[in-house]
Amino acid sequence: MTKIRVGVVGCGAIGTEICKAIDGYGGGDGDADLGMELKFLIDSHPERIEKLRKSLIKKPAIIKSDSMMLDKILTEVDLLIECASQAAVREFAIPALKKGKDVMILSVGALLCEPGLFEEIERISKEKGCKVYIPSGAVAGIDGLKSGAIGGIHSVVLTTIKPPSGFAGNAYVKEKGIDLFSIEKEETLFTGPAKEAVRLFPENVNVAASLSLAGIGPEATRVKIVADPSAVENVHEIEARGEFGKLFVRVENVPSRANPKTSYLAALSAIATLKSISYPIRVGT
Ligand SMILES: NC(=O)c1ccc[n+]([C@@H]2O[C@H](COP(=O)([O-])OP(=O)(O)OC[C@H]3O[C@@H](n4cnc5c(N)ncnc54)[C@H](O)[C@@H]3O)[C@@H](O)[C@H]2O)c1
Repeated sequence: MTKIRVGVVGCGAIGTEICKAIDGYGGGDGDADLGMELKFLIDSHPERIEKLRKSLIKKPAIIKSDSMMLDKILTEVDLLIECASQAAVREFAIPALKKGKDVMILSVGALLCEPGLFEEIERISKEKGCKVYIPSGAVAGIDGLKSGAIGGIHSVVLTTIKPPSGFAGNAYVKEKGIDLFSIEKEETLFTGPAKEAVRLFPENVNVAASLSLAGIGPEATRVKIVADPSAVENVHEIEARGEFGKLFVRVENVPSRANPKTSYLAALSAIATLKSISYPIRVGT
């Protein structure tokens, strides 16, 4: 079987898990063969590329620290995976699509925060006949939401619950004069549309964006942010109502060891998406 040739932008927590899975021993599944071949690695921190490269059995030939001469190395791949930053979506995903390459985007928040970016990506991928994959990331229930949206969804509410320390340094919390360390019981810090939530709580941006894209958009999707001193993990609860009935999903996320801001599930969801690309039978919506 011909292997799908892959280039990865971002050698951090998610990129490392993805590359190890492509290499054949990652993602908690020792026998996984994703049917993919790693062609290049890009990261603005060359030492991160080197650390990751050293840990791989099949080392990619091309390493780069920026998007210079990107067009040249794009000829080497079928799929570009962005797992770097919001800025990297425009910098790398757009040129890849223009070259007719498929793209996977992890920094999905960019599609909510940068006006017109989603529409541009949609237009180019249609013109070029490319696929854009957006894994579910740190949340579950996207499948039900997508199915429900066909029949009509009336409401989507995302409740994010974190220990108060998880909001340390947040400008909105400071401006509101909330003393995080004196919170003794569950306290709601914010309720409002997803569009506003991502501005005030940028750390929530990817989850809010995935849900908005799968469901009823960033204005209609409601977000509630809660600081709970009894919380240990970052919890996301999704409640959706529609013609189909009611959906409720709760995820208690374990943080990634390499980057505590990133949930381990986000990296796993990217690997699961890769598996669905290369495996002929697709289970789930
Ligand atoms: N979809 C989701 O649910 C979800 C969940 C967690 C994280 N994310 C997003 O995925 C991305 C990666 O997360 P992570 O935890 O692996 O981050 P990380 O900080 O561990 O790694 C990101 C790496 O990308 C590199 N990088 C950033 N911008 C770059 C650029 N323009 N060019 C080259 N290299 C660049 C950094 O140097 C870093 O090594 C982030 O944008 C994060 O917000 C998405």
